Amino acid sequence: MNEFIIDGRPVPFVEGQTVAAALVAAGRVAWRTTRVRHRPRGVFCGIGVCFDCLVTIDGAGGRRACLVPARQGMNVTTGETVTTGVTAGTTTTVTTVTTEEGDDE
Ligand code: FES
Repeated sequence: MNEFIIDGRPVPFVEGQTVAAALVAAGRVAWRTTRVRHRPRGVFCGIGVCFDCLVTIDGAGGRRACLVPARQGMNVTTGETVTTGVTAGTTTTVTTVTTEEGDDE
């Protein structure tokens, strides 16, 4: 099984999936929060335009998870813990990931 690591935990992926697609497939809808209001962010546009999906990959920060193909053994970090979302096999509080006019990043 192909896996990469995010914040110390393995995430399975299939060849051709982006990091973001693998995270969503694993039930993770948000993996960072905004700097000012601490609102959850994950995939919004899915095409590299909004920068909502930023992660650090193998030490390189500011990578858009929706554009980077997942690779075996890559190390992804978010630098933040998002406490809302859906976890595989367990439903927790779901926070809608949206952007608002004039919202912080
Ligand atoms: S989801 Fe918009 S840039 Fe990745």
